[in-house]
This record gives sequence, C-alpha cells and structure tokens, in this order.
Amino acid sequence: MVTFDRHRRLRSSAAMRDLVRENHLEKSDLIMPVFVDATIQDKEEIKSMPGIYRYSLNTILDEIKEIVDLGIQSIIIFGIPDHKDDVGTGAWEDNGIVQEAIRKIKAAYPELIVIADTCMCEYTSTGHCGIVKDHKVLNDESLEYNTKVAVSQVKAGADMVAPSNAMDGFVAAIREGLDKAGFKETPIMAYSVKFASSFYGPFRDAADGAPQFGDRKGYQMDPANRLEAIREMKSDEKEGADFTMVKPAMAFADIIRDVRNNTNLPLVAYNVSGEYAMVKAAAANGWIDEEQIVNEVLVGLKRAGADLIITYFAKEVAARMDAQK
Ligand code: PBG
Ligand code: ZN
Repeated sequence: MVTFDRHRRLRSSAAMRDLVRENHLEKSDLIMPVFVDATIQDKEEIKSMPGIYRYSLNTILDEIKEIVDLGIQSIIIFGIPDHKDDVGTGAWEDNGIVQEAIRKIKAAYPELIVIADTCMCEYTSTGHCGIVKDHKVLNDESLEYNTKVAVSQVKAGADMVAPSNAMDGFVAAIREGLDKAGFKETPIMAYSVKFASSFYGPFRDAADGAPQFGDRKGYQMDPANRLEAIREMKSDEKEGADFTMVKPAMAFADIIRDVRNNTNLPLVAYNVSGEYAMVKAAAANGWIDEEQIVNEVLVGLKRAGADLIITYFAKEVAARMDAQK
C-alpha cells in the first residue's frame, strides 16, 4: 500500500491548530500612521482611505488617545504644511506642523513611541523628496536638507526618525547630523528597500505629496528587482541603520524574506496606502471578508519575515484583539 503523511492530524481542532501555529500577530507589532495637517481646523477623512483622517493640531490628541487606549505603542507621523517652497522649509523649521505635533503628543503621552517620517515631498513645491535643479533631484544637496529635517524632528521630541527620501547615503548623513546635534541615542528606521510604486497613490492624495513633474524612479527602486534590494539594505546597515524596512509589503513578500535572510536588524514591512485602499474597497462592495483578509495579510507579512508592520489597519486590528479577549 502507498504510504502518505497525515498532515490533518495537526488541524483537527481549533486548540490543536493553536498548538502548532508558527506565526502570531501582536499589538506590539503594529505601528499606526498619523497625518497632521496645518491647513485644517478639525479633521478630514481621506477619500481614498476610508476610516483614516488628517487631523489638525487641535484634534490630533483625540486620535492619539484612541491609539494609546487601544494599546498600540508606536505611531509614525506625517505632516501636511500650509506652505511649500523649493527647499521644503516647512519640513525642518522649528515650528513646522510635524514639530509642533510631536511636542504636543510627547507632552501628553511621553510613553508613546513617536516615529517621524523624514522626507520633503509634502513640503517642496516640486513634490520631490529632495532638492531639485534643472528638473533633476540632486542627491547630496537633498541629504543636507533631509538631515535638517531629521534633526528638527528629534529636537521637537521624536523618539526615532524614519527617513523615506531614498537618496544614496541618507542613513550616514542623518546619523552624522543627529550625533553632531547630541542625539547619539536616537535610532534610525531606514526605508531601505523602497520601491517606486503605484501603491502609494492614496497616500499622495492624503499628504499632497505627488511629484509635480516626472516620477520617483530615479531614486526609488524598480519593482522588477530583487538582488538590488539586498544591496540597498546592506548599505543602510553599514551606514548605521537601527531598523530596516521593505515598502510596499503585499506584492513584495519575497523581498521581505530575502532581506530577513540577509540581516539581523529588526525588519519593518510597510503595508501602504494602496494596499489598505484595495482591501477597503473590496470589503465595501461585500466582495471579501475584511476582517479575515486583514488577518491573513498581516500574519502573512510576519511569516514573510517582518518583525513590525506599519499599517493603517493597526487601530481596527487592535480593537478586534481587545474584543476577542
Ligand atoms: C514620503 C513617503 C511616502 C510614503 C511614505 N513616506 C510617499 C512616497 O514615497 O511617494 C508612502 C506611504 C503609503 O503609501 O502609505 N516619501
Ligand atoms: Zn518623499
């Protein structure tokens, strides 16, 4: 008789399945993105991201309270300024919207880990992540300004910076800038493997950060590439990154695994705006079971090798974890 394996023995009941489950999603894995907007007084829902809002300085603490009450331990903050210029002044000035928000949040919730997204695209008139000359995004000049952004964010009280500008040498430049400013103990969460992706579409509407000409393919990675991802991560590791990241997540799970197998740094997966929007849209049509799909996506990212997940679903997932207790 042909013999075969009885895999179903370990699937015979919920308790048995619990015993052999290999990956788990926990609240401490979740980082919730937060948008603070200098141009509004109240809060405004982002059309392409149902359930996600831009908050004013007046309303931001309401959202932070909800996040903290749900047991989420960290946020990543993005700003929408009320003025844009060539050098993205709003991103690094002392009273910039993100700096003001960080001060307010840390004063009220000192325990919450506040991560500042370090970039310029929401603040430059070009919509690019750095300094532009003759329609080119200059690398080294952009490093100088992005470093100013990082230092100002940490001065305002950020616990960590997450540079997403995708310039070469951004970790080294920011590390040096932070050290010189006396912030040797502040970690850098590097957006190491950042693809030039259309999955950022809803975010760019939300944060008003779409490029005014061209695209980001000259500095963000080609989605067709795999080996290059390892090179990007290795550079950041060498330059002193404390966390590394892969972004987007769902269509890039192989890259998450590759990076996992090539570094011991804590690894973050960014489940981006377009990924959120797709799930929400399908669920709103009754085409998928949102709760199950979200669990599958997020535990899938853990299985791929992520330690932490930045996700717009963080609050909803945490709330469901509470309800199940
Ligand atoms: C800024 C930045 C972007 C995202 C995070 N930081 C936009 C971009 O690079 O165009 C995307 C996040 C998302 O889509 O959820 N550079
Ligand atoms: Zn940017």
